[in-house]
Amino acid sequence: MILYKNYWFRPSIIESILRAQNSFKPRPEDTIIAAYLKCGTTWLKALFFAVTNRSQYDFDHHPLLFRHPQEVLPFIEAPIQGNLTYLETLPSPRLLSTHMSLSLLPKSTVSSGCRIVYMCRDPKDAFVSWWYFYNKVHIGYHIDLETAFNMFSEGFSDHGPCWGHYLEYWRESIARSDKVLFLKYEDMILEPIKHVIRLALFLGAPFSIREEEDGVPEQLVRLCSFEKLSSLPENQTGRFTMLANTVIEKSWYFRKGMVGDWANHISMEMGRKLDCIVEEKLKGSGLVL
Ligand code: A3P
Repeated sequence: MILYKNYWFRPSIIESILRAQNSFKPRPEDTIIAAYLKCGTTWLKALFFAVTNRSQYDFDHHPLLFRHPQEVLPFIEAPIQGNLTYLETLPSPRLLSTHMSLSLLPKSTVSSGCRIVYMCRDPKDAFVSWWYFYNKVHIGYHIDLETAFNMFSEGFSDHGPCWGHYLEYWRESIARSDKVLFLKYEDMILEPIKHVIRLALFLGAPFSIREEEDGVPEQLVRLCSFEKLSSLPENQTGRFTMLANTVIEKSWYFRKGMVGDWANHISMEMGRKLDCIVEEKLKGSGLVL
């Protein structure tokens, strides 16, 4: 792995980030979903797509019933649909996503005034999720849990350290709360309807009284729930070919979708250790996980 501007990457990912930095041209009307790995990007993509396009589709024929959430919103640094020029062909307002830290996105991302929705997650759960995912994707390069944990705790993981990633977006959300919305996976799991309403408001498309009376926020939450999305045939079979010809089964984006699963995999002591590291790194920022 290579340390590039405070974050660790495998070379193939660096290449795509450098390409994105040179070619991505943010537009003021863009909305970008950003998240550190395994913090719920798939879920946020689905919610975001459903909220934004809610007037276009009814729930019985919704595109999310037939298309994987990863397909409805391209990654800036790795659009599934093709090369990076694909993004330029999309009409405004574009819905995009990224795993890049704020400091790695082109400077014009902030100055363009585009909206950013960020999702963070308890690093212990993000770690366990990442460990499972990594070992599925990198067949032949199995990494044992303890080694992976020690690496992660030192910030030595794809796009790591997660705390630096979280902090950059957190600070921006404080400085420009009208343009950057900072969400936590755990809060969303606890009160999904409240957060979907908040998301719509932030996006400048609040639910009308009629929509609320008709239960549209509830229906959106149900459509995008872990249970619903993970049970759809479209999301259970098939695969994507991502960067550097990495093959990812569509089903791998859905594992358990719960808060606190870390306790089933790492010891309390390991959990406390990671908590202490993260607390120390976030000290004084106002961000509490
Ligand atoms: P777990 O591995 O803990 O289950 P990402 O989309 O950023 O790769 O994150 C993947 C994590 O989000 C996985 O966590 C996955 O199960 C969970 N996830 C996927 N879809 C979800 C949904 N609709 N609701 C809640 N969690 C979801």
